[in-house]
Amino acid sequence: MFNTNVFAEAYAQDKDHHPFRTDMERYSIVSWLEPIEDKRVLDLACGAGNYSRMFCRLGARKVTGVDSSQAMIASAISHTPEIMPVTYHTLAAEDYGSAIPYDLVFHAYLFNCASSPQKLNDFCRVIFQHLAVGGQMLGIMGMLGHYPSGRRNPSGCYAAYQGELSEGDAYTIFFPGQQEAVNHYWTRSTCHSALLEAGFSGVRWYFPVDNRSHQMPVDDWIELEENPVFIGISATRT
Ligand SMILES: C[S@@+](CC[C@H](N)C(=O)[O-])C[C@H]1O[C@@H](n2cnc3c(N)ncnc32)[C@H](O)[C@@H]1O
Repeated sequence: MFNTNVFAEAYAQDKDHHPFRTDMERYSIVSWLEPIEDKRVLDLACGAGNYSRMFCRLGARKVTGVDSSQAMIASAISHTPEIMPVTYHTLAAEDYGSAIPYDLVFHAYLFNCASSPQKLNDFCRVIFQHLAVGGQMLGIMGMLGHYPSGRRNPSGCYAAYQGELSEGDAYTIFFPGQQEAVNHYWTRSTCHSALLEAGFSGVRWYFPVDNRSHQMPVDDWIELEENPVFIGISATRT
């Protein structure tokens, strides 16, 4: 799983260097983000902190990163300059509790870690509880479980599973370097309902956008545009 130093370091590097990560994943997130200058940001399942640091660079006043993996948090701390206003916690997202409301609650691939409908609801509840009224919830959800098992794609990651996946089913994701992790299959419709149930309004879904950098052939960008390996979700608290 995500709990080894080798995986955490490889993940941190991939996030900052793979063209899919920089020119599609990060590019999409930035394009969907409301202005965060001087805002408070909660990054749930922050991993090695790549997006927590990005929020600092974009001018956030305060960033809190939460991840259940000690190795990921250790990597996050080691890559974060002291001057950045980030605090990291090794904790399950569903156990996070703070009296401070956040202007942005962000989560990348958290929903894929929900092993049951109850867990998905818990994630949505915690996200909602920590979002300020009028704030933005922004997330991305991996879609590799919607690809055929074993099918390679230009993101460098692929999913492996047996038979057909249904709601909540586990599958294995292989990352570059053959690191692997368990993810869970959720449809947009189930996540949408969980978000409404938690109290969110204005739920919107987005397909990835990219800047088609020259670091990957054009056909690879087209493949990733036509068969997205993640999708975006935003919602608000009114
Ligand atoms: C695919 S990584 C994404 C990391 C980060 N969001 C990013 O995009 O760079 C998924 C992360 O979710 C974390 N995770 C899994 N279950 C979690 C939970 N219940 N609470 C918090 N973090 C969790 C894992 O430790 C891992 O770091």
